Amino acid sequence: PFRGAVTLDGPSGTGKSSVGRGVAARLGASYLDTGAMYRAATVAVLDAGIDPGDAEAVARTVAAARIEVGTEAGTERVEVDGADVAVRIRSAEVTRAVSAVSAVPAVRRQLVAQQRDLVGAADAVVVEGRDIGTVVLPDATLKVYLTAAPEVRAQRRAGQLGLTEAAQIDDLAADLRRRDQYDSSRADSPLRPAADAVVVDSSELSQQAVVDRIVALAQAAL
Ligand code: C5P
Repeated sequence: PFRGAVTLDGPSGTGKSSVGRGVAARLGASYLDTGAMYRAATVAVLDAGIDPGDAEAVARTVAAARIEVGTEAGTERVEVDGADVAVRIRSAEVTRAVSAVSAVPAVRRQLVAQQRDLVGAADAVVVEGRDIGTVVLPDATLKVYLTAAPEVRAQRRAGQLGLTEAAQIDDLAADLRRRDQYDSSRADSPLRPAADAVVVDSSELSQQAVVDRIVALAQAAL
């Protein structure tokens, strides 16, 4: 059986979550979606009526919030102060505000510490995010950086949401570009591949093919 950590980083809309869950299931590993933690922190900020651009107030609010995520590969449990927010974290309101919240260094320090604790408690784990290979788990067994062409990412996201009009797909592409730009240019833990990451471009691969590829890499890395 696989023992260790697989990190899965990359921009939005590359299929990281589906691929990550698929890899975790195949390896018999736990699964940690760190984006869900930043999204849950954003719910806490919005519920407190705080401006996501006010870094000090954001840091204070998130420090006082109890953010819990499950690591069972088959389910998604996300709670803020005991309230189930698994559906709300996917709302457009949260998606708009999450990059600003996750750029606050104190928020990152708090959630990274929590992520390391969760990973430390697991024998085998797949961890998905933006800075997992570079910052959170620099000694991971296998680091994967998943990319895809921007048009492909917008098309896939549109498919998931059931959107078909060109204008709607353009909006999605613009939102993906905005978040990538924000995540890649922030000072603290910007999105970039770790020096020792394997870059996998999923533009022309099926989800199953990407999962197969990463499972093979993980087994070879043992
Ligand atoms: O992966 P997901 O799209 O759910 O992540 C939402 C946002 O959370 C990202 O756009 C990014 O701003 C932030 N994030 C981060 N570091 C991580 C995971 C997510 O900054 N490790």
